[in-house]
Amino acid sequence: MNPPLALDPRDRRPLYVQIADGVVAAIERGELPPGARLPAMRSLARQLGCALITVSQAYEMLAVRGRVVSRVGRGTFVAPATASESEGAFARKWEPDLGQVARAERMEGVLDRLARAGAPGAISLGTGHPAPETFPLTDFGRAMARTLTDDPPEAMQYRAHTGDPDLCGALAAGLRSRGCDARRGDIIVTSGAQQAADLIASVLLTQRAVVAAEAPTYPGTLGVFDARGATYVEVQSDAEGVRVDDVERVFAEYRPRLFYIAPIAQNPTGAVLPARRAKAIVALARRYDVVLLEDQTGWNFTYDGPAPAPLAAYDDDGRVVLMESLSKSIFPALRIGYLLVRGGMRDSIESAKVRTDSFTSTLTQRALWRFIESPAFARHIKAARALYRTRRDRFVDLLTDALPWAAITPPQAGTNVWLPLPARISTQAAFDACAREGVLVMPAEPYYPTRSGPPALRLSFGDLDQTAMVTGVARLAKALDRLRASSAAVAAHSSHSSKENVV
Ligand SMILES: Cc1ncc(COP(=O)(O)O)c(C=O)c1O
Repeated sequence: MNPPLALDPRDRRPLYVQIADGVVAAIERGELPPGARLPAMRSLARQLGCALITVSQAYEMLAVRGRVVSRVGRGTFVAPATASESEGAFARKWEPDLGQVARAERMEGVLDRLARAGAPGAISLGTGHPAPETFPLTDFGRAMARTLTDDPPEAMQYRAHTGDPDLCGALAAGLRSRGCDARRGDIIVTSGAQQAADLIASVLLTQRAVVAAEAPTYPGTLGVFDARGATYVEVQSDAEGVRVDDVERVFAEYRPRLFYIAPIAQNPTGAVLPARRAKAIVALARRYDVVLLEDQTGWNFTYDGPAPAPLAAYDDDGRVVLMESLSKSIFPALRIGYLLVRGGMRDSIESAKVRTDSFTSTLTQRALWRFIESPAFARHIKAARALYRTRRDRFVDLLTDALPWAAITPPQAGTNVWLPLPARISTQAAFDACAREGVLVMPAEPYYPTRSGPPALRLSFGDLDQTAMVTGVARLAKALDRLRASSAAVAAHSSHSSKENVV
């Protein structure tokens, strides 16, 4: 069946997105019912006057969104309707009404897989959690007790929805010491960085808005963008983070609405973006009118020199929005993050915050302010950074010895290592083999904005003591060595049969 599709060169959406959207519209109008066969890629490319790869990308995107299914050798078909008739109207009514939300998994399914694979005695290199022994609970307890005794009862009244003024002042002062022109009134305290990302997305992203992102990058934020129906364009990186030439290519070609970037403690690679790149990226954002969302989570755990200034330090028109979670640097139970927002977006983000949860717990904010202002905060960061640096060095040494074939780039910040796998080993096979060996690892796919990319694993060392680290790496090496051996055997066999096999 041929849906009426046409490409519009003035449309800012990439061609493959236009095709995918056209197919979805035809499905929605009932012109392509469930089970209908889509045109063969080659003939559609001919009909539209575009490259075969463009149609192939469009079909791939539709498959990821769960709109079509591909059957090898037979073609691509419209997927069955999601809610069956027998489920009735009630079940369908409560499906999230998010338009063309990507329904394929981001983190949800992966966390289930990790939980299922977690047999007793398994060691987790998968979670990326901070080390509980660093949590400054005694000092924080003191700050909390003082909050309850010293603050007047009015302090616990309904309060400013953008955050406690004292805490906002302390956060702004911290940013000023890093070169940003930040005032107390530029801060919005949020319930974790997750909410910070959601507020930004709710204000900036309409359905199908083009979002540029690093690949790989932090899937928690990508999940927020998925829910707004974002279309992704990936930006290439090297050992120093995002490549400026590729940022320019993507900005010029796709004119994204937003570029999500973690310039320091990039999760999962641990790369730190040098100042000259940061400056150039802000200049490009200005030239191509792109909003930058920079995620500064984990910046205080930079190991090989001082952390560079945030991108916001080079911003002069409010197009750089900064977010940071304090989950990693203090402890996750705080559920505190914040945004630095200046300029035109601020009012809409404030309104979105009020709509979402009125304000973030003032009790926690007041205690956090007292803790941050006390000498205990600097002591805590120094001690935690020293612990993570020791663990980073030990972990990288163990991995380098145990996996001599692997290209391991030591993280300059944060608590993760990105392990690219040999091309013949699939991420899924590596995940399963590791789980069988009693070690849990994070699969790569959720970290790719488009959910597909070269096979790789994210390995985290933040909460691993010496014994867990040694045993975990030994199990990982055993699992991967076995897979490499079997993939080598398959490769030898297929060189006779000329078939591509991936283990
Ligand atoms: C880069 C990055 N951003 C944001 C977050 C989320 O932070 P929060 O716990 O405040 O939601 C994390 C947590 O792992 C992270 O690594």
